Amino acid sequence: MNTPTDTQRMEKIVSLCKRRGFIFQSSEIYGGLNGAWDYGPLGVELKRNLKNYWWRVMVHERDDVVGMDGAILTHPAVLKASGHVEGFSDPMVDCRLTNQRFKADQIPPQTGTVFTYEFARDATPSDEALLALAHLAETDAEPPFSKTTITSLDAVDLGKRIVERRKLTIPAPSKEPDSIEMFFLSLSAELARNPRSEWEERFRLGYSVSERGVCGDPFRVLVRTGESESKAKKTAQTFYQKRRLKLPVMSLLSKEVIKETQGFNPDNGAELTPPRAFNLMLETHLGAVADESSKVYLRPETAQSIFVQFKNILEVSRKKLPFGIAQIGKAFRNEINPRNFTFRSREFEQMELEYFCRPEQGMELLEYWKEERLKFYENIGIPRSRLHVLTVPDEERAFYSTGTYDIEYEFPFGRQELEGVAYRTDYDLSQHQKASGKSLEYFDEETKKRFVPHVVEPSAGVDRTVLALICEAYSEDQAPNEKGAMESRIVLRFHPRVAPIKCAVFPLLKNKEPLVAKAKEIVGLLRSQMTVFYDESGAIGRRYRRQDEIGTPFGVTVDFETLGEKDPALRDTVTLRDRDSMQQERVAIQDLPVILQERIR
Ligand code: GAP
Repeated sequence: MNTPTDTQRMEKIVSLCKRRGFIFQSSEIYGGLNGAWDYGPLGVELKRNLKNYWWRVMVHERDDVVGMDGAILTHPAVLKASGHVEGFSDPMVDCRLTNQRFKADQIPPQTGTVFTYEFARDATPSDEALLALAHLAETDAEPPFSKTTITSLDAVDLGKRIVERRKLTIPAPSKEPDSIEMFFLSLSAELARNPRSEWEERFRLGYSVSERGVCGDPFRVLVRTGESESKAKKTAQTFYQKRRLKLPVMSLLSKEVIKETQGFNPDNGAELTPPRAFNLMLETHLGAVADESSKVYLRPETAQSIFVQFKNILEVSRKKLPFGIAQIGKAFRNEINPRNFTFRSREFEQMELEYFCRPEQGMELLEYWKEERLKFYENIGIPRSRLHVLTVPDEERAFYSTGTYDIEYEFPFGRQELEGVAYRTDYDLSQHQKASGKSLEYFDEETKKRFVPHVVEPSAGVDRTVLALICEAYSEDQAPNEKGAMESRIVLRFHPRVAPIKCAVFPLLKNKEPLVAKAKEIVGLLRSQMTVFYDESGAIGRRYRRQDEIGTPFGVTVDFETLGEKDPALRDTVTLRDRDSMQQERVAIQDLPVILQERIR
């Protein structure tokens, strides 16, 4: 099931991300690189906070998980054994008109009338026919035409001149190719009836179909129920123009009503090619010679290096089953339709855990990890109510998996996958054992038996989670300005744990040296423990607003009370403002590190 989409909200989010330095299009000044994104100063902090928290709860706070950081460049044998070389592909279809590529299963079923065109030919006269026309139209008063200067529009003018001079009763054509062809065919027939020189016959022969451009490809267009039928012909003409027919004339072979078809481009009705497998892996070459022997892949998932290093890590860590190996890192996929901002990219990061276990523990651990991962999202500020667990149906699951959940989030563009939690059985280790000839078995000291461990894999996307955090945090509300009047404000309500900047520090006035000095002293006090931002420019309300917009959860203001000018008891205290409630409390400067640490951890 899909949730309603909110395009406007998404547009505001994308624009905020650029305006405030979260995410930029990669290679933007050169027109952008589709499917690649650069994180700006705030984006990189948000991303790091997410990855650090994942690493903390998945590795540091557990006895049964260790980490690794594998290479991106991957030996083809690894991905052959894992099944990626053969099978990591999507069935793709191409639009025959625009060459746009789509995933076959993402084409919505459509109903309408299918027009099939064939025998396409160019109404434009051939060079030989043009030459003949020029001769036939020549008069003593006019200079002779040279072949190189005649265009197809001139050709119609020449034709009209011949009609006039010979007093023929052939109506002038419209600009439509069919009408132009009809005009020249009638002219050729009339001229052949009354030849005055060799040029009449030369024109007839020159305008025969065999001398003009033709395209033998039939082409089909769907006109959806309710759309104008004239669209079909225009679309077909564009198709044949791209196949170098300047003025295409087609014959309509058939017109048939068709229901729920996925064979046509939903944007323009043009026919799609039959589905073909398209491998999503990106490859490159190592060394000086770029041939098959130097080919390597950019890993499509981080998981495979974990499986390949399983034995080494088992030996060095001396872990007992069940135990896991975690990794965060880049993955690359040549996605056909990168879309929805960073949601589907070609270069992205994953946070993956391969949790190895005994076969009989697999299904139970699948449930365990699903719950752990749901808790994780709640702990970074994504409420349970906006998360959904999809039990992947048998027919959509990888053949080796006996259970998979997708954790989905309600993005403004619909409910979409954030993370997959899959029980992958012993498939990966067995495959690598078979292909490498090296034992990847585990020796059970209690039973004295050897076996290939099974694995449960929670696999999350960093970029998708960052996007979910931004989408979840984005809100607009009303807040009072300096004069007390209500104004609308944009606020990113990040959980303090992931917020890029934890605390902003403001001197009430920038031209009052003791206030500035104290504020800078506070920055120094906090800086080693959290990200801090110092801002002295503009009215204080405006400074708060700027921080709200980037999601800074706390604001510290140094005012005259801090200097003890009004009440000595308040010396060295500051106001601490909460972004969401906008409430301010007065706290001692020396307590700030502890208070803030507690709230941002
Ligand atoms: N090792 C299992 C695996 O890679 P996956 O479902 O293909 O499974 C896991 O990917 C996660 O990686 C997804 O849930 C998603 O968060 C992220 N991911 C996959 N493809 C992505 C893409 N093209 N752009 C951004 N994130 C992607």
